[in-house]
Amino acid sequence: MRIDIITVLPEILESPFNHSIIKRAKEKGLAEIIIHNLRDYSEDKHRKVDDYSFGKGAGMVMAIQPIEKAIETLKSEREYDEIIFTTPDGNLFNQKVANSLSLKKNIIILCGHYKGIDQRIRDHYITMEISVGDYVLTGGELAAAIITDSVVRLLPGVLSDETSALTDSFQDNLLSPPVYTRPAEYKGMKVPDVLLSGNDKLVDDWKHDQAIERTKKLRPDLYRKFSGS
Ligand code: ADE
Repeated sequence: MRIDIITVLPEILESPFNHSIIKRAKEKGLAEIIIHNLRDYSEDKHRKVDDYSFGKGAGMVMAIQPIEKAIETLKSEREYDEIIFTTPDGNLFNQKVANSLSLKKNIIILCGHYKGIDQRIRDHYITMEISVGDYVLTGGELAAAIITDSVVRLLPGVLSDETSALTDSFQDNLLSPPVYTRPAEYKGMKVPDVLLSGNDKLVDDWKHDQAIERTKKLRPDLYRKFSGS
């Protein structure tokens, strides 16, 4: 899968994809993540990418020209399945959206900034508008990092069987059960006996029960989806 991210602040995205699982996914050739500096597409002599908004609205708006050129340049090189815009007024991102994006071949993520982008870009180029939560970030870069991270880890071969995404919280509308590691007892705090029993069936049943109990308690909204009530 190839993800092209268009941003005015490429520096913010230097680190998130260069560690651990995402780094290995890139090294194995399972994911290609390419960061584009929007200013490189500006035809302004000062590489400007924003301008004052028409009408009374205060604040700068990302201009149509550099974005149109960036998107058209990429589209002339390959076909894209989705062109995503990160914005607080987009559709809320969740595991289901991550799952569906992980099935795509090529996507573009355009990071929002300032007071927004010229609406004509949204009307004519953007195929999906995504918010990562009901709060406002200073820009869409961290949202793009969240989307990319959650999608890339789902690609076949990125996670080992042990860390398989199938057992993630949210995949079946259940939170994950608690986990423990050695020692079995620390300063009087004990690991539940069942996990030391060696009985796989008992352990699996316990994990499932715990997942249900935690979801009921911590995320009653998810539990309703799980139980279909
Ligand atoms: N840009 C600013 N806030 C955002 C949010 N919550 N989600 C996506 N992009 C954003």
